[in-house]
Amino acid sequence: MNTPIANSDSSDRIIIFDTTLRDGEQSPGATLNVDEKLTIAKQLARLGVDVIEAGFPFASPGDFEAVTQIAQQVGSETGPIICGLARATRQDIKAAADAVKPAAKPRIHTFIAASDIHLEYKLKKTRAEVLDIVPDMVAYAKSLVADVEFSPEDAGRSDPEFLYLMLERAIAAGATTVNIPDTVGFLTPSEFGTLIQGIKANVPNIDQAIISVHGHNDLGMAVANFLEAVKHGARQLECTINGIGERAGNAALEELVMALHVRRQYFNPFFGRPVDSEAPLTHIDTRQLYKTSRLVSNLTGMLVQPNKAIVGANAFAHESGIHQDGVLKHKLTYEIMDAQSIGLNDNQIVLGKHSGRNAFRTRLKELGFDLSDQDLNKAFLRFKELGDKKKDISDRDLEAIVNNEIQHAPELFKLEHLQVSCGDHAYPTATVIIRTPEGEELMDAAIGTGPVDAVYKAINRVVNIPNQLIEYSVQSVTAGIDAIGEVTIRLQYEDRFFSGHGANTDVIVASAQAYMNALNRLSATLQGTRSLHPQHDEVAHIV
Ligand code: KIV
Ligand code: ZN
Repeated sequence: MNTPIANSDSSDRIIIFDTTLRDGEQSPGATLNVDEKLTIAKQLARLGVDVIEAGFPFASPGDFEAVTQIAQQVGSETGPIICGLARATRQDIKAAADAVKPAAKPRIHTFIAASDIHLEYKLKKTRAEVLDIVPDMVAYAKSLVADVEFSPEDAGRSDPEFLYLMLERAIAAGATTVNIPDTVGFLTPSEFGTLIQGIKANVPNIDQAIISVHGHNDLGMAVANFLEAVKHGARQLECTINGIGERAGNAALEELVMALHVRRQYFNPFFGRPVDSEAPLTHIDTRQLYKTSRLVSNLTGMLVQPNKAIVGANAFAHESGIHQDGVLKHKLTYEIMDAQSIGLNDNQIVLGKHSGRNAFRTRLKELGFDLSDQDLNKAFLRFKELGDKKKDISDRDLEAIVNNEIQHAPELFKLEHLQVSCGDHAYPTATVIIRTPEGEELMDAAIGTGPVDAVYKAINRVVNIPNQLIEYSVQSVTAGIDAIGEVTIRLQYEDRFFSGHGANTDVIVASAQAYMNALNRLSATLQGTRSLHPQHDEVAHIV
C-alpha cells in the first residue's frame, strides 16, 4: 500500500489541494466533459498543485471516467496526488477507490454532515449515529487506499465539542488528513482561527493528521479565513482556480498562493522559519497562474471579473495618470508584485503568417500545450486563417486559438455557413447552414434586433431546443483593431445552465461559435445521464 506523502513534509510548507474539477465544477453551468477535465488536470500538474480533487466518481459514469483518466494520465509518481470525493457510504467510497486506483498516489476524500441543521434536515441522523458511521467509513476507505481524508461538512456551524469527537474517531480509523469545511461561508477570520486552534488543543490524536481547510466565499472572507487558519496550524488549503465553486465560490488558489508568496516574511514565523527566509511556502510555479486562470475561464465559461485580485484584467493595469507616473519612477510605488511573477508579461510576438507547422508546434510546447495530432492540425488551420488577418501573432493569440480548439463539446450540430447583413437603417438579418446530428444540412434565416440576435434566432430555428440566453460577454484578447474577440455566453434550460465559448477576429463569428458550443453541451447533456450532486442529493446509507 502507498504511504501518503502528505504527512512527510507538510509541517514547514503548505499543501495546495485544488478542487476546481470537483467543487469548481459544481458551479452552475461550469460543467466540463472528460477531455476538458483532462486538459485542466494537466495544467494543474504543470502549475505544481500537490493534490487534484478530480471529481465525485459515484455521480455518474462520466464523472467516474474523468477521475480514472486523470488518475491514469496525470497521477504519475512525480505528479500530484489524485483524489476522489465520496459521501460516507460504501458504494461512494468503493467508486472513488476504483476511480483513483490507476494513480501512483491515490486519495479518497470522504465526508459526512456535522452541523445539527444538516443532521436534522439533510441527513436525518442523530449525532450518535454519525459518530458510528465516521470510523466505519474511514476504516473502509483505509482498507482500499492508504491516503484517506475526512471532512465534517458544515464544520463552521457545528458544535466544536462534537467536531472534536468526530475528528478523533476519523483519525483513529486511519484518516491522514482532516479537513475543516466552512461549507456556507459563515465564519469570520478570527472565528476560523479559533476553530483550528480549538481542534489542535482538543483532538488528542491531531498530531497524526494534517489539518486542512475548505471554505466558501459567501461573505467574501474565504481567503482571509484560510490565511488565519494557516497561522493556527492548517497546512492544506482546498481552493479553486479563479475561486469558482458553489454559489459565491471557493477560496481562490491564485490569491492564497500569491498572499503566501508576496507576504512570505509575515507568514514565515508561523512555519518556524526565520522571518527573511526566501524558501517558498508552496510548491506552486506562480508563473503558470495567469495561464491556468485563462484556461479554466475559457473551458468553464466562468468569466473573471476585471478587478479580480491577481488574474483580473485590471490587476496590473495602471490606468490613472498619477499611478503611471509613480510606477515609471519606481515600480514599488504602486505595485507589490511583478506581473511577470504570475506569467502575465510573457506575451511575446512570436509568429506570423509565414511561420510553419514546426515553429507553431514548438511554441505551443513552450507554452505548455501538448496537443494530439488531430487537435494540432485543427489549431494550425486556425492559426493560418488568423495569419491572413493579423500580422503579428502573440502568445495570447495562440492561447486563444488553442483554448478554442481544445473545447471538446461534441459537435452534434455543426455550423457550416454564416452570413450576416446589418448596418444603420437596415434590418439585421442572418442566414445559417447547420449540419444536424443525423448529417442533414439545414438552412434558415432570421431578422433580429442586432446581428448577434439575428444569428441566434436563425440557429434556434434549426436546432430547436428551447433555451434562454442569460449572459453574453465579449472581450478582446490583445490590444489593436485586428485583435481576436472572445465571446462567452451562458444559457438556461429548465433548471440547468450551459456555457459556451468562441474566439475569432470577427466577433459575430465568435458569437455564433459560442452559441453552437453551448447548444451542443446542452444537447449532449440531454442525451446523457444526470450527475448526482455530492452534497445536495439524497444518500442511501447502506453502511
Ligand atoms: O463545502 C463543503 O463542505 C464541501 C465538502 C464536500 C468538503 O465541498
Ligand atoms: Zn465546498
